[in-house]
Amino acid sequence: MLKKTLAVATLALLGTTSVQADLFKPEDAIKYRQAIYQVFSAQSSVLGGMVRGDIPFDAEEVHKRATNIAKVAPMLGETYFPATRGVTGSRLQDRAWNNMSDFQAKGQAFGKALGELVEASGQPDFDQAKARQTIGALVQSCRSCHDDYRAR
Ligand code: HEC
Repeated sequence: MLKKTLAVATLALLGTTSVQADLFKPEDAIKYRQAIYQVFSAQSSVLGGMVRGDIPFDAEEVHKRATNIAKVAPMLGETYFPATRGVTGSRLQDRAWNNMSDFQAKGQAFGKALGELVEASGQPDFDQAKARQTIGALVQSCRSCHDDYRAR
């Protein structure tokens, strides 16, 4: 169910029309977008802390953090509408708009890694080795998009 929601949400990323432009001013949409990424960041720092061993491993906690990301991730799509292109304060690189299918593919890879983490962390056999692998894949999906489409 959740996996399906995620797949739909990531597919919708950038597939948006100008409907959102009627609801949000571009400047506000950027703040909204960045706030969602800040939620990602807070959850990911707990996940990363567990992988590094700074925070004791706890499968339930991993599941909770992954689920938190999955709750807000579907909202990202509506923050990416054409009028948000080039807004001051946004770190989205302009070339994302010219490489939309690749940008979307990065979003889908993220959705897939996240879905796998949510699912795996809910299984009774989820251990530290599996956590390292699935969390590593998620973090890699963040990095892969930032490397190409987020300004420094
Ligand atoms: C498909 C691309 C993509 C993926 C996947 C992605 N990001 Fe980002 N991220 C961006 C872009 C683009 C921005 C800049 C947005 C803007 O400023 O308009 C950004 C911005 C951010 C920011 C800065 C927010 C701010 O306050 O300005 C953080 C933190 C962040 N991302 C964390 C993450 C984490 C953690 C993940 C993975 C769990 C992730 N992102 C996955 C594209 C992505």
